[in-house]
Amino acid sequence: MKLKAGVIGNPISHSKSPRLHNYWLKTLNIDGEYQAIYSDIHKFRETVYSLIDNNYQGVNVTIPFKEEAYKIANERSLAAKFMGAANTLVFNNGKIFADNTDGYGFAKNIQSKYPDWNVKGDHIILGAGGAAKAIIQWLIDSGANRIILFNRTRERAEKLAEIHGKIEVQPWDQIVDFLPNATTLVQTTSCGMNGKNDILLNFENAKSDIIINDIVYTPLMTGLLKSAKNQNIRYVDGLGMLLWQARPGFEYWFGQTPPKINKDLRQMMLK
Ligand code: ATR
Repeated sequence: MKLKAGVIGNPISHSKSPRLHNYWLKTLNIDGEYQAIYSDIHKFRETVYSLIDNNYQGVNVTIPFKEEAYKIANERSLAAKFMGAANTLVFNNGKIFADNTDGYGFAKNIQSKYPDWNVKGDHIILGAGGAAKAIIQWLIDSGANRIILFNRTRERAEKLAEIHGKIEVQPWDQIVDFLPNATTLVQTTSCGMNGKNDILLNFENAKSDIIINDIVYTPLMTGLLKSAKNQNIRYVDGLGMLLWQARPGFEYWFGQTPPKINKDLRQMMLK
C-alpha cells in the first residue's frame, strides 16, 4: 500500500516540503507520496481526522495551525510540550503523536558543518518569534551558558526571557558589544529576506571561532552572511535548518533515514 503524508497549511502552495520529501521518496525508491494539503482556517481538525480515515501516516503542520496541531495530539514530545506547538504529527492506530523538530533542525544544520561548535558557550539570538523560541529551548537544554536576546520590540523579548534565567535581553543597537564572548550569532528575524532590511555587522571584535547562522534562506546569502564571509567569519545558511527539521518526520512516516544532504539536494530546493 502506498504510504501517504503531507504538509497542512493555509496558505500552502509556497511550501517547499513536498519537493523535498518526494525527492527523498524517489531516491530511496519508496512507494510513497507527500502532498501539499490546504485546510480551511476553521477546519483543521476535520482535515486531520479525514487524513487519518484515509490511512495517512502523518503530516507536517505549518502556519497558522502549529498550536492547534499540538492541542489535537494524544501524546507529545518534550520539544512540542515546551513550544506548545507542533510541526510534525504522526498517526498511529487512530492516535496522534506531536513533535516539534525546529530546534533539532537548527542544531543539526550547524553541527553538520562545524562539529567543533561550542554549544555550552554564550549565544546571541536576534528576534523573539517562534523560531527564536525553538532555538533558545534547544540551546538551553543542551547546556548553553547564556542567551543574549535582541529584538526590535524589546517587550516581546522580555516575555520570551521569562522562560529561563539564562536569557537576558539587551538593546538592539548594542549587538556588536556582545560579540567578543559569543560562540554563535543566530539571526531569526525576517530581516534580509528578499534583500530587505539587511543586518550588517562589524565582526572585528568577535571571537575568531564565532559562527553566524541566518535562518532566512531567500536569498541564501543574506547581507549578514555576505558580511560574515567577507570578514572571514564562519557562517551557516538557513536552508539546512529546513532540510534537517524535515528528517524526523520522514523517518516516522516512511520508516527509513533520508539520504545525506548534498549539493544536488540543496540546488534542487533553491530552484
Ligand atoms: P517566526 O515565528 O518565524 O520567528 P514571527 O513570530 O513573525 O516569525 O517573528 C518575526 C521576528 O522578526 C520578530 O522578532 C520581529 O520583531 P518584532 O517582535 O519587533 O516585530 C522581527 N522583525 C520583523 N521585521 C523586522 C525588522 N524590519 N527589523 C527588525 N526585526 C524585525
